[in-house]
Amino acid sequence: MITLIKNGYVIDPASQIEGKYDVLIKDDLIIKVGNNLDPNNLNVNVDQVIDASGKHVMPGLIDLHVHLREPGYEYKETIETGSKAAAAGGFTTICAMPNTKPALDKPDRVRYVLDKAKKALVRVHPVAAITLDQDGEELVDIENLYKAGAVGISEDGKSVMSTAIYKKAMEEVARLDIPVFAHCEDKFLVADGVINEGEKSKELGLAGISNAVEDIIVARDIILAKETGARLHLCHCSTKGSTLMLGMAKEKGLKVTGETCPHYFTISDQDIPGDDANFKMNPPLRSPEDVEAIIEALKNDVLDVIATDHAPHSAKEKEQSMATAPFGIVGLETAYAITNTELVRTGILSKKQLVEKMSLNPAKILGIDRGCIGEGYVADIVIVDPDMEYTIDKNEFFSKASNTPFHGRKVYGRVLYTIVAGQVKYRYKA
Ligand code: DOR
Repeated sequence: MITLIKNGYVIDPASQIEGKYDVLIKDDLIIKVGNNLDPNNLNVNVDQVIDASGKHVMPGLIDLHVHLREPGYEYKETIETGSKAAAAGGFTTICAMPNTKPALDKPDRVRYVLDKAKKALVRVHPVAAITLDQDGEELVDIENLYKAGAVGISEDGKSVMSTAIYKKAMEEVARLDIPVFAHCEDKFLVADGVINEGEKSKELGLAGISNAVEDIIVARDIILAKETGARLHLCHCSTKGSTLMLGMAKEKGLKVTGETCPHYFTISDQDIPGDDANFKMNPPLRSPEDVEAIIEALKNDVLDVIATDHAPHSAKEKEQSMATAPFGIVGLETAYAITNTELVRTGILSKKQLVEKMSLNPAKILGIDRGCIGEGYVADIVIVDPDMEYTIDKNEFFSKASNTPFHGRKVYGRVLYTIVAGQVKYRYKA
């Protein structure tokens, strides 16, 4: 099967190319990137030509932070529906977080996800839990989870509060040279907090979550990364303090990377319209000052990654008051358009930086040979129309869930094709 993508604007920081190029794909591989590739002169029979004039051709997006909910919470999402949402969002690789039921704390559970993922539209890499049942007491068998296919470990949804247990985990990942994905939240300090602590939480009469809840654990984790040599990846950074500490850790040459999510650079706690659980996630929407700091850290490349923290919940769960509804919002199908609209079209990030943060850097953190449109690479590619304007409609999502604060928001940037290993897995139909 031979596919020729013609006349697209290729953005590929890995091979340092940006401009009008054609891309030739044979079966699962990119075999040529060049100007004016003519099927007649290529000595191949081209099966399909995709006209990408005026469109951006980028390495398939890679999301380090997705909740697929399987096993255990299939009413919220499944590997199948989550992977459809991913493909529709331009993602070709996603990492599945371990806070399932049971948690991904044993090798057979990791294998279960990998087995189910064989039928998924995109590549799924499981991330294993750090403690058994994620109850913070007993360390998992990290080496065997890694051998079973886990790409890293995370206690996602919470932090391992025992610094002694966490340090052991970090020593082990340092030895195996795999990343630890850190959800930074002091369990005791957060208490029953629901939204950011401030005027908004007072106005709504809801318990607040202070920045210290995140910052204290970020500081601890960086100190442990320094002591153990572990590769630490800070998940969903939301505070100014996190970005400052991440910047300092990088200046010191520590192996620390950081991610944020589209909601943390787009909306603040001031945008919460009332008691609406579609604006409830963990960490919470922060103050406008924090939003500014997150944007600055993205611009300065202190924050390496934009991930979604796609956290599907049922409509019934999210209809509850913010006081009792579960934390989390979906993000796979809105991340590209929000990032393009808020950061690229505004001139805050270059097109290249978007690709770095949504594809190349995640690939490097995972240690996988993706995030590149180079000859010989697997053809994981997304084609987007960066100028197509539309209004986000949660009723059009492929995800089982529609818990988003972005319903009704005007954005620019449509995913037109998502190609995984040379096969078109999603195609936009107007
Ligand atoms: O808002 C969140 N939802 N944050 C998390 O860390 C977990 C996630 C979930 O699993 O629903």
